[in-house]
Amino acid sequence: LIVQGLVYLQYFNYSMQIFRIPSQFHAFCKESGKSSSIGFVPTMGALHEGHLALVKKAKSENTIVVVSIFVNPLQFNNPEDLKKYPRTESEDLAMLEAEGVNAVLIPDPALVYEAPTALSFDFGNLERVMEGAFRSGHFNGVAVIVSKLFHWASPDRVYFGQKDLQQVRIVETLIRDLSFPFQLVCCPTFREESGLAMSSRNRRLSETGKIKAASIYKSLLDAKKRLQDGLPIAEVKKLVSLELEKNGDFKVEYFEITDYETLQPLQTLHSSSKVALCIAAFLEEVRLIDNILIEF
Ligand code: PAF
Repeated sequence: LIVQGLVYLQYFNYSMQIFRIPSQFHAFCKESGKSSSIGFVPTMGALHEGHLALVKKAKSENTIVVVSIFVNPLQFNNPEDLKKYPRTESEDLAMLEAEGVNAVLIPDPALVYEAPTALSFDFGNLERVMEGAFRSGHFNGVAVIVSKLFHWASPDRVYFGQKDLQQVRIVETLIRDLSFPFQLVCCPTFREESGLAMSSRNRRLSETGKIKAASIYKSLLDAKKRLQDGLPIAEVKKLVSLELEKNGDFKVEYFEITDYETLQPLQTLHSSSKVALCIAAFLEEVRLIDNILIEF
């Protein structure tokens, strides 16, 4: 009985540290950073296997791993989207504890934005396309919050998923331009068996919606095949929207065939082109994004 009790206590007693006050999290990271390398995974919670893959990668490359959970109002241009964003704090903490995460910051929003942010970021052409074009102010919000989080976590490496490819490019630019002293590690998109890219937003889909949503990835693979077969870019773009929208389930917001680095739309392909195929589409009023990379 005593042993059982001890196991029970050990299981339910978080050894992971949870911080609500950014300055206390910062003090923990500064102190830990003296003797350990820190891998940092910023998230908005509603965690899934994709987030855990980032945590695992961070664990394999650093002595300690710290995670943030914060649904950042500044990066939502649509108040309804912000309201509906899934929030699953206790499940998230249990998942992170099970992965052996050392510390989590779940900041009190009032302490994140103590005063309205006067600073604003402009990433030029990089944010004039795709997510930046359709979600006004989104990347400014991302840049503001990740800058704050980077200061608080003082990491050696930060981990982002390729599913948000444009966010990866924006944050890489931020790190370069503001001389943050660490690297961004971009991890491959984690997919369901069906091919659907894992996303916190998938929770808002019905069971049939989840099955239908796999067509997004399929449409990217079809587009890749067509490009490799030599079909012109304009033709491939037309077919993706036509095929996804034919049953009336999807509304394609954009499908772009872009340069892999600059994310600017391409008109033609060359033999050494590195290309990203990027899509955003609505299904059951949920906005889903995905992308794949191809080298010619
Ligand atoms: O990708 C996300 O979950 C968010 O954009 C991030 C990087 C945590 C900033 O709020």
